[in-house]
Formats: sequence, C-alpha cells, structure tokens
Amino acid sequence: MKLLIKLGGTLLESDETRQALCRQIAGAQAAGHQTVVVHGGGKRLSRYLEDQGIESEFRNGFRVTAPEIMDAVLRIFAGSVNHHLVAELGKAGAKAIGLSGIDAGIVEAVQLAPELGAVGKVSKVNAAPLDLLTEAGYLPTIACVAGGADGAIYNVNADQMAAACAGGFKADQMIYLTDVAGVLDGNHKLIPSLTIAGALQLIEDGVARGGMEAKLRAAISSIEDGAERVRVAAGAEPDVISRLLAGESLGTEMVAS
Ligand SMILES: Nc1ncnc2c1ncn2[C@@H]1O[C@H](COP(=O)(O)OP(=O)(O)OP(=O)(O)O)[C@@H](O)[C@H]1O
Ligand SMILES: [Mg+2]
Repeated sequence: MKLLIKLGGTLLESDETRQALCRQIAGAQAAGHQTVVVHGGGKRLSRYLEDQGIESEFRNGFRVTAPEIMDAVLRIFAGSVNHHLVAELGKAGAKAIGLSGIDAGIVEAVQLAPELGAVGKVSKVNAAPLDLLTEAGYLPTIACVAGGADGAIYNVNADQMAAACAGGFKADQMIYLTDVAGVLDGNHKLIPSLTIAGALQLIEDGVARGGMEAKLRAAISSIEDGAERVRVAAGAEPDVISRLLAGESLGTEMVAS
C-alpha cells in the first residue's frame, strides 16, 4: 500500500513520541508499504523566533512570513527538525532521505496573499521522485517548504503540503498524526467519522479552529482529489500506525459523504 504520514510538529518535541513514531514508520515501510512522511514544526519555530526576540504573528491560521522569518523556517523545518527526524528514522532501520518541496520540484507554490509574505499555496506537484525513491526502498521525509517557478521559496502549511504530496503520490491511505485524539466536537468528545459537510459545519460553528481548521480543509481537498481514506489520530497513541494499518478504528475517519 502507498502510505502518506503527516507528523504534527508538537509530536516531534517529545523524544519518546518521536522515537516511537520513527520505529513504527520504519516498521510500516519494512512491512512493504511505500511510505512518505511530511512534517511540520511550528511550535519549535515559534520558540526559535522567540529566542531571537521575534514575535510570531498569525492571520487566519497562517504564519506571516517576512524574509527573516523565511530564513528561520528553512533553518528549523528543512534544517533541524527534518534532520533529527531523518536521523531517528535511520536509527530505526529506515533508509530515510530528508527533502523539502524544493527538491526536484516535488511541490511548487505561488504566493498565497501579499500580506502573508512568503506563505505559499501549492500550485503544482511532481511526485515522480517520491515513486522512484519509495520503489527503491527509500523513505522520503519532507519538510513543508516549497519552491516557486520564479526561484522563490515558500512556507507552506504542513497539512496542505501533506495533502498535495498524497494527491501526487496517489497514496492509498493518508494519516494525519497530531497532538489530540482526533477531531473533537463542541463537548470535546472524539468524532469517529466525519463527512466533508460535517467538517465544514464544525469550521463554520467555530468548533474546529486554528490548526484543526487547516487540517480539515487540507483533508477535504484530499478527499475531493479522490483519496479514499483520510484519518486524523493521536501520534502518542501506542502503536497507532500499525493498528490503523490493521484496520483498527482510531481517531477520526474522514469520508466523502
Ligand atoms: N475541534 C477540534 N478538535 C481537535 N483539535 C482542535 C479542534 N479545534 C482546534 N483544535 C486544535 O488543533 C490542534 C491541532 O492542530 P496543530 O496545527 O496545532 O497541530 P499539527 O497540525 O498536528 O502540528 P503542526 O501544525 O506543527 O504540523 C489541537 O492541538 C487543538 O488545539
Ligand atoms: Mg498544523
């Protein structure tokens, strides 16, 4: 099976969770699944910027990305977070290769809105390198940075990056691992199954906000692109990946209708 796993940035902050997830991902790949990993790193970036005396500013859930912030995005997402993840996956036995969307034009973007600076919106996906690498037994591990046809570099929301890669790679299963049990309703109860209409309603009602709104919008675009199985689940849940692959129902399953 072709598998796309998106790792939320918060999960990578805990050594224990990061190690456990890397072992599971290496295991899924060793079991024969062609696997691609896309990761975020927003919380780490906010801390880094804070240390530099730069405050993070968000509009509609997007980080306003001035040039000096883009430099930090590259250092943290494509630099430190990506390399630590690749090293850990390697330790777990996977032949992980650290990439960003810039490499071989895997993901191209255009500017989303001038007031957001270098925030990119995906405009084109070239998944051929993902097929080549996974067929040869490598594990592409992609930071959420994209290149523009104009040679510019863009900061792309990690969930949108994951959805774009899943679409191009034609992933059979798409798993968003995050720091909550799944999509929660207004009473903080887990929603086991969610349609596109249900997700849009949660956003409209203000129940799914911030990072979860971004995730649901990305998941909706995946489903509209034809993805059959999209799942949002807790990365800290023991053996979450193998249990999902075995068909266990964990977290929230997103369905067309
Ligand atoms: N209805 C909801 N159900 C679940 N979480 C929600 C909801 N509404 C808002 N959230 C928030 O969304 C967060 C998850 O999105 P967030 O962007 O922070 O994580 P991520 O996408 O896994 O990580 P990253 O953005 O670093 O890649 C949760 O921690 C929670 O605070
Ligand atoms: Mg997020």
